Amino acid sequence: MQLIQTGSKGLDELLGGGLPKGKCVLVVGSPGAGKTILLMQFLKSGAVVDERGLYVAMDEAPEHVKANLSPFNWNLEKLEAEGRLLFLDATMLRGTGASRSSGLLLSGEGIEAEPRMTVRFLIDTIRRIVKEEDIQRIAVDPITSIMLRYIDPYKRRRAMLMFFDSLLGLGCTSLVSTELRTSMLRRAFQVEEFLSQGVILMHTFIHAGSLVRAVQIEKMRGIPHDAQLRPYQITSNGIEVYPKDRVF
Ligand SMILES: Nc1ncnc2c1ncn2[C@@H]1O[C@H](COP(=O)(O)OP(=O)(O)OP(=O)(O)O)[C@@H](O)[C@H]1O
Ligand SMILES: [Mg+2]
Repeated sequence: MQLIQTGSKGLDELLGGGLPKGKCVLVVGSPGAGKTILLMQFLKSGAVVDERGLYVAMDEAPEHVKANLSPFNWNLEKLEAEGRLLFLDATMLRGTGASRSSGLLLSGEGIEAEPRMTVRFLIDTIRRIVKEEDIQRIAVDPITSIMLRYIDPYKRRRAMLMFFDSLLGLGCTSLVSTELRTSMLRRAFQVEEFLSQGVILMHTFIHAGSLVRAVQIEKMRGIPHDAQLRPYQITSNGIEVYPKDRVF
Protein backbone atom coordinates (compact mmCIF):
# COMPACT_ATOMS: atom_id res chain seq x y z
CA MET A 1 0.00 0.00 0.00
CA GLN A 2 1.29 3.46 -0.89
CA LEU A 3 1.89 5.70 2.13
CA ILE A 4 1.38 9.43 2.45
CA GLN A 5 3.55 11.43 4.82
CA THR A 6 1.65 13.30 7.52
CA GLY A 7 4.08 16.19 7.85
CA SER A 8 5.13 14.94 11.28
CA LYS A 9 8.21 12.68 11.00
CA GLY A 10 7.64 11.00 14.35
CA LEU A 11 4.04 10.22 13.55
CA ASP A 12 5.07 8.77 10.18
CA GLU A 13 7.45 6.51 12.04
CA LEU A 14 4.62 5.18 14.23
CA LEU A 15 2.65 4.56 11.06
CA GLY A 16 5.49 2.69 9.41
CA GLY A 17 5.94 5.46 6.85
CA GLY A 18 2.69 7.38 6.68
CA LEU A 19 -1.05 7.25 6.16
CA PRO A 20 -2.55 4.72 3.76
CA LYS A 21 -3.10 6.53 0.48
CA GLY A 22 -6.69 7.17 -0.51
CA LYS A 23 -8.07 6.32 2.92
CA CYS A 24 -9.91 8.28 5.54
CA VAL A 25 -8.43 8.50 9.02
CA LEU A 26 -10.01 9.96 12.14
CA VAL A 27 -8.09 12.20 14.54
CA VAL A 28 -9.71 12.07 17.98
CA GLY A 29 -8.68 14.52 20.68
CA SER A 30 -9.78 16.80 23.48
CA PRO A 31 -10.00 20.59 23.08
CA GLY A 32 -6.54 22.07 22.57
CA ALA A 33 -4.93 18.69 21.82
CA GLY A 34 -3.57 20.02 18.52
CA LYS A 35 -6.01 18.45 16.05
CA THR A 36 -6.23 21.54 13.86
CA ILE A 37 -2.44 21.93 13.91
CA LEU A 38 -1.94 18.30 12.84
CA LEU A 39 -4.54 18.54 10.07
CA MET A 40 -3.02 21.71 8.65
CA GLN A 41 0.50 20.29 8.96
CA PHE A 42 -0.69 17.37 6.83
CA LEU A 43 -2.19 19.64 4.18
CA LYS A 44 0.77 22.01 4.15
CA SER A 45 3.33 19.24 3.74
CA GLY A 46 1.39 18.00 0.73
CA ALA A 47 0.86 21.46 -0.72
CA VAL A 48 4.59 22.18 -0.87
CA VAL A 49 5.16 19.05 -2.97
CA ASP A 50 2.27 19.78 -5.33
CA GLU A 51 -0.41 17.72 -3.66
CA ARG A 52 -3.30 20.13 -3.44
CA GLY A 53 -5.13 20.22 -0.15
CA LEU A 54 -8.66 21.16 0.86
CA TYR A 55 -9.36 22.33 4.43
CA VAL A 56 -13.04 22.07 5.34
CA ALA A 57 -13.71 24.48 8.21
CA MET A 58 -16.70 23.22 10.17
CA ASP A 59 -16.61 25.18 13.44
CA GLU A 60 -14.30 28.14 12.94
CA ALA A 61 -14.16 30.34 9.85
CA PRO A 62 -11.03 29.83 7.72
CA GLU A 63 -9.84 33.35 8.57
CA HIS A 64 -9.77 32.47 12.27
CA VAL A 65 -8.08 29.15 11.64
CA LYS A 66 -5.39 30.82 9.54
CA ALA A 67 -4.92 33.56 12.15
CA ASN A 68 -4.57 30.98 14.95
CA LEU A 69 -1.95 29.09 12.97
CA SER A 70 0.03 32.17 11.90
CA PRO A 71 2.79 31.62 14.57
CA PHE A 72 3.84 28.47 12.69
CA ASN A 73 5.18 30.34 9.65
CA TRP A 74 3.63 27.87 7.26
CA ASN A 75 2.81 30.57 4.72
CA LEU A 76 -0.76 29.38 4.44
CA GLU A 77 -1.86 32.59 2.70
CA LYS A 78 0.84 32.10 0.08
CA LEU A 79 -0.07 28.45 -0.47
CA GLU A 80 -3.68 29.53 -0.83
CA ALA A 81 -2.79 32.30 -3.28
CA GLU A 82 -0.84 29.78 -5.36
CA GLY A 83 -3.85 27.46 -5.42
CA ARG A 84 -2.08 24.70 -3.50
CA LEU A 85 -4.31 24.99 -0.47
CA LEU A 86 -8.06 25.62 -0.58
CA PHE A 87 -10.37 26.56 2.27
CA LEU A 88 -14.04 25.65 2.32
CA ASP A 89 -16.06 27.60 4.86
CA ALA A 90 -18.75 25.15 6.02
CA THR A 91 -19.45 26.92 9.30
CA MET A 92 -22.97 27.86 8.20
CA LEU A 93 -23.91 24.18 8.26
CA ARG A 94 -23.73 24.10 12.05
CA GLY A 95 -26.86 26.04 12.92
CA THR A 96 -30.28 25.07 11.66
CA GLY A 97 -31.63 28.62 11.30
CA ALA A 98 -28.69 30.10 9.45
CA SER A 99 -28.38 27.27 7.01
CA ARG A 100 -32.02 27.41 6.08
CA SER A 101 -32.11 31.17 5.61
CA SER A 102 -29.02 31.04 3.42
CA GLY A 103 -30.81 28.58 1.18
CA LEU A 104 -28.57 25.58 1.76
CA LEU A 105 -31.35 23.32 2.92
CA LEU A 106 -34.65 22.43 1.36
CA SER A 107 -37.35 24.38 3.10
CA GLY A 108 -40.18 22.57 4.86
CA GLU A 109 -37.91 19.82 6.08
CA GLY A 110 -38.64 18.30 9.47
CA ILE A 111 -36.10 18.54 12.22
CA GLU A 112 -35.04 14.92 11.72
CA ALA A 113 -34.74 15.23 7.95
CA GLU A 114 -32.61 18.32 8.06
CA PRO A 115 -29.27 16.86 9.19
CA ARG A 116 -29.36 14.34 6.35
CA MET A 117 -29.68 17.13 3.81
CA THR A 118 -26.86 18.98 5.50
CA VAL A 119 -24.44 16.06 5.38
CA ARG A 120 -25.35 15.32 1.78
CA PHE A 121 -24.88 18.94 0.82
CA LEU A 122 -21.47 18.95 2.47
CA ILE A 123 -20.42 15.78 0.66
CA ASP A 124 -21.64 17.08 -2.70
CA THR A 125 -19.75 20.33 -2.21
CA ILE A 126 -16.52 18.55 -1.27
CA ARG A 127 -16.90 16.19 -4.23
CA ARG A 128 -17.37 19.08 -6.65
CA ILE A 129 -14.31 20.95 -5.35
CA VAL A 130 -12.14 17.81 -5.41
CA LYS A 131 -13.03 17.22 -9.07
CA GLU A 132 -12.73 20.82 -10.20
CA GLU A 133 -9.54 21.60 -8.32
CA ASP A 134 -7.71 18.26 -8.51
CA ILE A 135 -7.45 17.86 -4.73
CA GLN A 136 -5.31 15.08 -3.26
CA ARG A 137 -5.55 15.72 0.48
CA ILE A 138 -8.59 16.66 2.54
CA ALA A 139 -8.95 17.77 6.17
CA VAL A 140 -12.41 18.04 7.74
CA ASP A 141 -12.16 19.91 11.05
CA PRO A 142 -14.13 18.86 13.09
CA ILE A 143 -17.01 16.57 12.11
CA THR A 144 -18.46 16.62 15.65
CA SER A 145 -21.09 19.36 15.53
CA ILE A 146 -22.76 18.26 12.30
CA MET A 147 -23.03 14.68 13.57
CA LEU A 148 -24.41 15.72 16.96
CA ARG A 149 -27.43 17.06 15.13
CA TYR A 150 -28.58 13.48 14.71
CA ILE A 151 -30.58 12.60 17.76
CA ASP A 152 -31.18 9.04 16.64
CA PRO A 153 -27.94 6.99 17.00
CA TYR A 154 -28.90 4.75 14.06
CA LYS A 155 -29.30 7.73 11.75
CA ARG A 156 -26.08 9.18 13.04
CA ARG A 157 -24.25 5.98 12.25
CA ARG A 158 -25.70 5.91 8.76
CA ALA A 159 -24.73 9.52 8.13
CA MET A 160 -21.20 8.88 9.34
CA LEU A 161 -20.92 5.82 7.14
CA MET A 162 -22.18 7.77 4.15
CA PHE A 163 -19.69 10.53 4.90
CA PHE A 164 -16.70 8.18 5.18
CA ASP A 165 -17.76 6.19 2.12
CA SER A 166 -18.05 9.35 0.07
CA LEU A 167 -14.61 10.56 1.14
CA LEU A 168 -13.16 7.15 0.25
CA GLY A 169 -14.76 7.29 -3.16
CA LEU A 170 -12.94 10.53 -3.96
CA GLY A 171 -9.53 8.89 -4.01
CA CYS A 172 -8.02 11.52 -1.71
CA THR A 173 -6.23 10.85 1.55
CA SER A 174 -8.36 12.43 4.28
CA LEU A 175 -8.00 13.33 7.92
CA VAL A 176 -11.23 14.02 9.81
CA SER A 177 -11.04 15.40 13.34
CA THR A 178 -13.53 14.73 16.08
CA GLU A 179 -13.75 16.13 19.57
CA LEU A 180 -13.57 14.06 22.64
CA ARG A 181 -15.87 15.31 25.35
CA THR A 182 -14.99 12.89 28.11
CA SER A 183 -11.77 11.82 29.71
CA MET A 184 -9.80 9.65 27.30
CA LEU A 185 -9.26 6.88 29.78
CA ARG A 186 -12.91 6.61 30.69
CA ARG A 187 -14.29 7.24 27.25
CA ALA A 188 -16.72 5.06 25.36
CA PHE A 189 -15.76 4.34 21.77
CA GLN A 190 -17.45 6.72 19.41
CA VAL A 191 -19.29 5.43 16.38
CA GLU A 192 -16.86 7.22 14.04
CA GLU A 193 -14.00 5.14 15.34
CA PHE A 194 -15.56 1.91 14.14
CA LEU A 195 -16.38 3.26 10.71
CA SER A 196 -13.08 4.86 9.67
CA GLN A 197 -10.06 3.02 8.25
CA GLY A 198 -7.83 4.40 10.93
CA VAL A 199 -7.92 6.25 14.23
CA ILE A 200 -5.24 8.49 15.71
CA LEU A 201 -5.86 9.44 19.35
CA MET A 202 -4.39 12.61 20.83
CA HIS A 203 -4.47 12.25 24.60
CA THR A 204 -3.81 15.02 27.09
CA PHE A 205 -3.64 14.34 30.80
CA ILE A 206 -2.25 15.78 33.98
CA HIS A 207 0.43 13.61 35.54
CA ALA A 208 2.33 14.63 38.67
CA GLY A 209 1.05 18.16 38.26
CA SER A 210 2.09 18.70 34.64
CA LEU A 211 0.37 18.36 31.31
CA VAL A 212 1.31 15.25 29.36
CA ARG A 213 0.50 14.90 25.67
CA ALA A 214 0.51 11.46 24.09
CA VAL A 215 -0.48 10.13 20.70
CA GLN A 216 -1.67 6.61 19.96
CA ILE A 217 -2.52 4.86 16.72
CA GLU A 218 -5.65 3.07 17.86
CA LYS A 219 -6.14 1.39 14.51
CA MET A 220 -4.93 1.57 10.94
CA ARG A 221 -6.44 -1.01 8.65
CA GLY A 222 -4.00 -2.62 6.27
CA ILE A 223 -0.74 -1.37 7.74
CA PRO A 224 1.28 -2.62 10.69
CA HIS A 225 1.82 0.19 13.16
CA ASP A 226 3.02 1.05 16.64
CA ALA A 227 0.00 0.98 18.98
CA GLN A 228 1.78 2.30 22.08
CA LEU A 229 1.15 5.65 23.71
CA ARG A 230 3.99 7.95 22.54
CA PRO A 231 4.67 11.46 23.78
CA TYR A 232 4.25 14.48 21.52
CA GLN A 233 4.75 18.20 21.87
CA ILE A 234 3.46 21.22 20.07
CA THR A 235 6.53 23.17 18.97
CA SER A 236 7.13 25.99 16.51
CA ASN A 237 7.18 23.29 13.79
CA GLY A 238 3.79 21.88 14.77
CA ILE A 239 3.14 18.44 16.20
CA GLU A 240 6.37 16.62 17.09
CA VAL A 241 6.00 12.97 18.07
CA TYR A 242 8.76 11.09 19.89
CA PRO A 243 8.31 7.59 18.50
CA LYS A 244 10.90 5.86 20.65
CA ASP A 245 9.87 7.35 24.00
CA ARG A 246 7.40 6.05 26.52
CA VAL A 247 4.91 8.21 28.33
CA PHE A 248 5.15 6.65 31.78
N1 LIG B 1 3.77 27.66 19.26
C1 LIG B 1 3.18 26.83 20.12
N2 LIG B 1 3.93 26.18 21.03
C2 LIG B 1 3.37 25.34 21.89
N3 LIG B 1 2.08 25.07 21.94
C3 LIG B 1 1.28 25.69 21.08
C4 LIG B 1 1.78 26.60 20.12
N4 LIG B 1 0.76 27.05 19.40
C5 LIG B 1 -0.35 26.43 19.87
N5 LIG B 1 -0.05 25.62 20.88
C6 LIG B 1 -0.95 24.74 21.61
O1 LIG B 1 -1.85 24.24 20.65
C7 LIG B 1 -3.16 24.21 21.18
C8 LIG B 1 -4.16 24.47 20.11
O2 LIG B 1 -4.03 23.51 19.09
P1 LIG B 1 -5.26 23.20 18.12
O3 LIG B 1 -6.01 24.44 17.83
O4 LIG B 1 -4.71 22.45 16.98
O5 LIG B 1 -6.11 22.26 19.07
P2 LIG B 1 -7.46 21.53 18.70
O6 LIG B 1 -7.29 20.13 19.15
O7 LIG B 1 -7.78 21.76 17.29
O8 LIG B 1 -8.47 22.26 19.67
P3 LIG B 1 -10.05 22.51 19.48
O9 LIG B 1 -10.72 21.26 19.89
O10 LIG B 1 -10.31 23.63 20.41
O11 LIG B 1 -10.28 22.85 18.05
C9 LIG B 1 -3.18 25.31 22.21
O12 LIG B 1 -4.02 24.93 23.26
C10 LIG B 1 -1.75 25.41 22.67
O13 LIG B 1 -1.60 24.63 23.83
MG1 LIG C 1 -9.35 22.64 16.30
